[in-house]
Amino acid sequence: MAKSTLLSLLYPLLLAALFMHGHGQEKKVHIVYMGDLPRGDFSAESTHHSMLESVLGSTLSAKESLIYSYGRSFNGFAAKLSDEEVGRLSEMDGVISVIPNHILKIHTTRSWDFMGFSEGKLSGSQEGNVIIGLLDTGVWPESESFIDTGMGPPPSKWKGTCQGEGNFTCNNKIIGARYYNSENWYFETDFKSPRDSEGHGTHTASTAAGRKVQGASYFGLAEGVARGGVPYARIAVYKVCWSFGCATADILAAFDDAIADGVDIVSVSLGAPWPFPYMEDPIAIGSFHAMRYGILTSNSAGNSGPYPYSVSNFAPWTLTVAASTIDRKFVASVVLGNGKVFTGLSINNFMLNGTYPLLWGGDAANYSAGADPDIAKYCFPGALNSYIVQGKIVFCETVWDGSGILLANGVGTIMADSEYSKDFAFSYPIPATVITTEDGQQILDYIRSTQNPIATILVGETWKDIMAPSVVSFSSRGPNPISPDILKPDLTAPGVDILASWSPVSPPSIYWRDTRSVYFNIISGTSMSCPHASGAAAYVKAAHPDWSPAAIKSALMTTAYIMDSRKHPDLEFAYGSGHINPLGATDPGLVYDASEADYINFLCKQGYNTTTLRLITGDNSSVCSSTVPGRAWDLNYPTFALAIEDGQPIQGVFTRTVTNVGKPNSTYSVGVYMPSSVSVTVEPSVLSFSAIGETKTFTVKVYGPKIAQQPVMSGAIWWNDGTYVVRSPLVVYNILPGATYSSPYSLTKPQKTPKFEGSSVYHKNGILGHD
Ligand SMILES: *[C@@H]1O[C@H](CO)[C@@H](O)[C@H](O)[C@H]1NC(C)=O
Ligand SMILES: *[C@@H]1O[C@H](CO)[C@@H](O)[C@H](O)[C@H]1NC(C)=O
Ligand SMILES: *[C@@H]1O[C@H](CO)[C@@H](O)[C@H](O)[C@H]1NC(C)=O
Ligand SMILES: *[C@@H]1O[C@H](CO)[C@@H](O)[C@H](O)[C@H]1NC(C)=O
Ligand SMILES: *[C@@H]1O[C@H](CO)[C@@H](O)[C@H](O)[C@H]1NC(C)=O
Ligand SMILES: *[C@@H]1O[C@H](CO)[C@@H](O)[C@H](O)[C@H]1NC(C)=O
Repeated sequence: MAKSTLLSLLYPLLLAALFMHGHGQEKKVHIVYMGDLPRGDFSAESTHHSMLESVLGSTLSAKESLIYSYGRSFNGFAAKLSDEEVGRLSEMDGVISVIPNHILKIHTTRSWDFMGFSEGKLSGSQEGNVIIGLLDTGVWPESESFIDTGMGPPPSKWKGTCQGEGNFTCNNKIIGARYYNSENWYFETDFKSPRDSEGHGTHTASTAAGRKVQGASYFGLAEGVARGGVPYARIAVYKVCWSFGCATADILAAFDDAIADGVDIVSVSLGAPWPFPYMEDPIAIGSFHAMRYGILTSNSAGNSGPYPYSVSNFAPWTLTVAASTIDRKFVASVVLGNGKVFTGLSINNFMLNGTYPLLWGGDAANYSAGADPDIAKYCFPGALNSYIVQGKIVFCETVWDGSGILLANGVGTIMADSEYSKDFAFSYPIPATVITTEDGQQILDYIRSTQNPIATILVGETWKDIMAPSVVSFSSRGPNPISPDILKPDLTAPGVDILASWSPVSPPSIYWRDTRSVYFNIISGTSMSCPHASGAAAYVKAAHPDWSPAAIKSALMTTAYIMDSRKHPDLEFAYGSGHINPLGATDPGLVYDASEADYINFLCKQGYNTTTLRLITGDNSSVCSSTVPGRAWDLNYPTFALAIEDGQPIQGVFTRTVTNVGKPNSTYSVGVYMPSSVSVTVEPSVLSFSAIGETKTFTVKVYGPKIAQQPVMSGAIWWNDGTYVVRSPLVVYNILPGATYSSPYSLTKPQKTPKFEGSSVYHKNGILGHD
């Protein structure tokens, strides 16, 4: 009930959707993706122009239609095209896919201490060689997190620029900034520059790489030192998200630039609401080309959990990050006139002095506005009668943004909703807390049975969360919707109630018209966990500049802290390899490396043919001999997933190769854990190394009885030499018959889970959404 009504808050997005779904003849922005750059002399712009000219029939219309030529890091363009023109372009030689411009959504700092990473051990100059590129809402450059004192000039590999429009400036911390707006949509609050009007990009950038800031807090709450993972690393800003969302043509343009600019890590806290085939997903395409240039892309898993198959950004060449709690939760208590106390989750910085009359929202219906008690009990804005509500605390039967009470001159609100009193907190424009539906019933009983009910809401506190870390309910879950034998998400990182820098022009609470201004804010989302992983990846990159994206990813995954399976019925589909451990990841012992050729082989088995793969790689020696799609069992992935069709026996053989990055002379023996009905044999069971960089190959055979309707079974395989433990989870799970292989061209979009977008975390201009 509350869920569907929250949908109405999504109106700016719906507006955007309306803009986009016009008539067939109307020209809409599309991405034309063409793979690798051709060799030799090649002018992207003139090539794309002449392709457009041949389809559109005139130089002028080609010129008007072309929006971006992607030609720095890969080949393709964005242009305004009618359906018929899309059809003709799709047929042209060299075109891999033509993709409509989708609008995606953007999906401290105690969190680093919680990970055992209170202090980095690398020198400032080691960190200073690493550049993190963030595709987000831009940045607030004057934030204290981005001061560049003590930082030298950017590393010489840097080729980016600073679009210093308006009053936007870069420095030796924020070394570059660009912005992209393919639809040319600028709303009132948007800055036509890399400046962040939303807060989100400032939050993610400072989480990944912000400097230390003493005395950071949210109106005094959670006061302490805020810092990013790599305080001396450089930040390159690619503003692709605006108040309406993030267009995929802009995301791809940002990848094209970021790769050529020389970033080391790309951090992308946004995603599509449903799965796309790899070569129709601009984040998968951009991150694939980034991987070819040695750049790891770290992605948010999405905020559409806890439903299975909800994970987004699941390509094997990217790091997919779930969100989990840290050992701090934000609570606010209600004290009733009868002395009863109820405590709920809320980031409540307000101090109420004394008690106030308490009222049920249903008793304050604004009848002339069309409300009645059944509506008013939810306290939606406009539904309450301000004469009745004025000066009172209002009890409401759902979680909303507090504006209904604020606009009716109430002093505070108690909201009851068990779904939102579980594991993460919002902040509101008035004193507020969120309690369970059962506690709410007690408050209602008290109101009903008392002549003059009164209450107060105490100023918020932070409590130790002894259950942490646990994956938060909204974090998107596996299995992987397209490649069932690649386990996703890859790992989990802090993403709940994270304090980090904020844009002072963006509302500090979930009420989009909250006019207060803050430089730090506390928000939740996989958007917040992703930059934690990006910071950790940058830290590993700083320690090992020559490691490949797959090696960095493997190091982060095999050293992850083991999560408590008892708290997570969906096990690895919630947390992947476990909880990120930035310090441990710099010294993993062994890594599961993978190169472009391995991913091409993977794509071949996913159904992409030789023609397409040659275009992607620009290499005419690429061959895809498999005519039937195959399983992803030999991609050198640091985890193992085995999808078994209902009614089939458990059967799978994985091949893996590990590279020694620990001690030159070392001998590892295998350890295996799996529920007893499943047999796992690893051959050989001992791996001996005598040099750094040496590789050893092993196979993992998994057998068991026929299974059907079997909940996920999980175990692990680890290599132990007495110093290092290199651990990989192994999951076996059931899928529907026929779902094992998904050809990229026959994929049908799954039905979206009937739930409002994201258990609603980040708020921007009234959008409660994918954070
Ligand atoms: C820059 O411009 C923005 C937007 O107009 C404004 O909010 C901000 O205070 C300005 N900052 C400086 C340092 O002038
Ligand atoms: C309560 O008292 C504090 C301290 O005097 C004051 O800052 C605050 O505004 C008061 N709150 C209300 C709601 O009056
Ligand atoms: C009732 O709602 C209308 C429309 O939102 C508003 O203009 C009016 O002030 C409200 N009346 C009271 C008494 O709050
Ligand atoms: C390769 O796949 C593309 C996309 O499905 C298709 O258009 C093309 O005809 C295929 N080429 C060959 C040689 O099968
Ligand atoms: C690959 O083959 C195509 C078609 O035969 C040709 O146009 C292209 O130049 C070749 N590319 C390379 C790098 O050899
Ligand atoms: C590793 O073992 C080999 C052979 O036993 C030996 O020659 C070599 O010195 C050892 N290297 C190190 C670094 O211990």
